[in-house]
Amino acid sequence: MSLQDSIPNNVDLGSDRKLMRALQKWQPNFLEWWKDMGPEGFQEDQIWLRTAISVDASGWAHYDYVKMPEYRWGIFLTPREGERNIGFGDVASEKVWEEVPGELRGMLRRIIVTQADTEPASVEQQRLLGKCAPSLYDLRNLFQVNVEEGRHLWAMVHLLHQYFGRDGREEAEALLERRSGDVDKPRILNTFNERTDEWLSFFMFAMFTDRDGKYQLSSLSESGFDPLARATQFMLTEEAFHLAVGEYGVDRTVQRAAEATVADSNDDARAQGAIDLPTIQKWINFWFSSAVELFGGEISSNAADYFAAGLKGRHHEQKKYEDHEALGDIYSMPIVEDGKLTSEEIPLRNAINEQLRDEYVADCERAVRRWNKTIAKAGLTDFELKLPSRRFNRRMGIYAEHTFDPAGNLIDEGTFEKKKREWLPTQEDRDYVQSLMQPCYEPGKMASWIAAPRKGVKGKPLDFEYVKFTAA
Ligand SMILES: [Fe+2]
Ligand SMILES: [Fe+2]
Repeated sequence: MSLQDSIPNNVDLGSDRKLMRALQKWQPNFLEWWKDMGPEGFQEDQIWLRTAISVDASGWAHYDYVKMPEYRWGIFLTPREGERNIGFGDVASEKVWEEVPGELRGMLRRIIVTQADTEPASVEQQRLLGKCAPSLYDLRNLFQVNVEEGRHLWAMVHLLHQYFGRDGREEAEALLERRSGDVDKPRILNTFNERTDEWLSFFMFAMFTDRDGKYQLSSLSESGFDPLARATQFMLTEEAFHLAVGEYGVDRTVQRAAEATVADSNDDARAQGAIDLPTIQKWINFWFSSAVELFGGEISSNAADYFAAGLKGRHHEQKKYEDHEALGDIYSMPIVEDGKLTSEEIPLRNAINEQLRDEYVADCERAVRRWNKTIAKAGLTDFELKLPSRRFNRRMGIYAEHTFDPAGNLIDEGTFEKKKREWLPTQEDRDYVQSLMQPCYEPGKMASWIAAPRKGVKGKPLDFEYVKFTAA
């Protein structure tokens, strides 16, 4: 098999023997990790997947049946036309770097490793979901997300191998050694150690947690370190699909919940085999509050340093902002002082994380509005889903030492403990959702708790055989 066949790429891998050897050494370890920790039980089946085989429009979304271990995980950087200058921070308008500047090496490595670690982590979190997929369509989408997270790992490992020498090689190995949820060698970020063993959590993860990824990638896509900027730009094209899987997955669950509520004489969606809307609300509360941590501290000198150094900007830094130095301005931040919620003025650069979180929250609110339209369309007029406040249920940052209700009001701990069962998933809720997780593998059929999607994948009908089981 030629190199282009086994590792499709546009980084001229063939002419860089050192890099090629490093990646060919890493590849079998990756495959071993995939067989161990990737989707359990479907490795021999034929999945209708898209593979990126080049960066142009005709090549980046090539669809065919493929066995997952034979997926061609490639390395692609969005091509650069002409020269680019750094667009923000203290180094604004300097030429971008093609190599890692010595003084930024530690910071950059930390940024890349933290991003990279989330990719295999999510595959590990989702490895048992195939066994209880609500349809073949969803099963295929799950595996598409999984192989693409595998490709994102490749993209980051390429950067480590090519630009970080021996440390990079060690980090690349360590990425295959940590395990989601393992007490001794957990994944770096906490959300990526949460269990995702039923599909409502999977959709919430893809909606909320992966969406954090979009904003992190976006803020790196204008990085002064050009190979990182170009790698993350290409990753974003795939990420959009993951977010859609999450948003529409929740939407279809909401649709079924609302329709079942209307159809039942006691308004009892559970009696109709659906997940009721109050339960969905609890999942939103849990997953949103967990994902929102990923943006880091509200007041952060690290983020200010990354910004100043030209490593990590804001979402759509060039398009949306006029002042790319962010030096003189202030950010008005709600804080708790003397037992009351008031606001404090923070230098803008120390509030970079919070600005990114603002964008994210607005995006999540948009999705919740869509879900509420779905509820209304089903004829249910007295229920609306709500995005909780970013202060609710936090374990990190300035709100972690206090307790808030989902609307963001400061409350005492006793009240929180008393109301927790109404706001967050209980064991009974989890057991109920888990009890619905029965596989539904007949082409075109859906499990009882989810509505059918409006259309199939890439022009294929809904009852297309998206997964061909080998054993059956
Ligand atoms: Fe990813
Ligand atoms: Fe993703």
